[in-house]
Amino acid sequence: MRVKETMLDLVPYQPGKPIEEVKRELGLEEVVKLASNENPYGCSPKVKETIEKSFQDLAIYPDGYARQLRESVAEKLEVNVTQLIFGNGSDEVILILCRSILSKNDNIVTATPTFPQYRHNAVIEGTEVKEVPLVDGVHDLDAMLDAIDENTKMVFVCNPNNPTGTYVNEEQFKAFIEKVPEDVFVISDEAYFEYVEAKDYPETLPLLKQYPNLIILRTFSKAYGLASLRIGYGIANEELIKAVDPGREPFNTNTIAQRAALTALNDDQFINDCYNKNRTEMKKYEAFCEEFGYDYYRSQANFILIDLKVAGSEVFNRLLNKGFITRNGEALGFPTSVRITLGNADQNDRIIEELKKLHI
Ligand SMILES: Cc1ncc(COP(=O)(O)O)c(C=O)c1O
Repeated sequence: MRVKETMLDLVPYQPGKPIEEVKRELGLEEVVKLASNENPYGCSPKVKETIEKSFQDLAIYPDGYARQLRESVAEKLEVNVTQLIFGNGSDEVILILCRSILSKNDNIVTATPTFPQYRHNAVIEGTEVKEVPLVDGVHDLDAMLDAIDENTKMVFVCNPNNPTGTYVNEEQFKAFIEKVPEDVFVISDEAYFEYVEAKDYPETLPLLKQYPNLIILRTFSKAYGLASLRIGYGIANEELIKAVDPGREPFNTNTIAQRAALTALNDDQFINDCYNKNRTEMKKYEAFCEEFGYDYYRSQANFILIDLKVAGSEVFNRLLNKGFITRNGEALGFPTSVRITLGNADQNDRIIEELKKLHI
């Protein structure tokens, strides 16, 4: 049995440890997953009713074009319905883009460390991946520009970046895209958009008119709290969306996800509340790091990467034993760090108390 050569060096995506597994292994009653940057406050309470109502339609295929959701997102973002593509999570939009755009002799440019799915999907297409190290946790856009050559098809800017939470600002992004050749796609992955506090974070939507090579990614998995339903989307110019759409499976987003996303999209109050709580909780972690002298990246997202100066696995295991699943930085390119998704106030207080015990 032989699979594509390009698959041979790949391993499946390594998600955070599942809650049930940790409960069983450690005999814990309460386990909280703060490993995949999900929303600790769940989703808009209005979604429950929407899902209950959808029960009667389970036997019918979904609307593959996600028309209702498409219309609402288009209205909210002030773009055309034809400028959107929906995916089974923004993960799938990345996959669709890679399968539609990349071939064997091409390359992509990404930062490192960054979200691993850009690399993963490019490798499957047999495409070379040029990885440009972050500088102080931030994309080195000049070096990324230098890495672009005549075979480059896509450049990924994860903004804010996962796992650092750092961001590229408006001025830097504009100067960058201005210099990227027109035939190279710039993907601005904005999975944590709703959490961003920085006033100079780029407004990329208005840039779509000027740059037909710009693709923006957003998701309902993070602040909207719908990670398990798998729905995210890409925004780009109409011709590009039309060209990549055949790379999408016929019914790639399901009815429940589409309707839940539509309900969630209209609950601004829920998103505002989550944003405010996230910023309040972030300050607690920052204050802890300042007080105890730990390095951390100032995060615009709902997670924080902290360098606790001991092996990431040690901190990870200590928190795991207390029922908190976090991300060991060793697997993320930061061997003495952990990445913690911000939980609710009580969870964060307990984590910080535990982290204080590490300090000698
Ligand atoms: C930067 C970034 N992009 C995309 C995704 C994928 O999100 P989803 O497929 O749930 O929309 C994630 C998830 O962790 C992420 O961190």
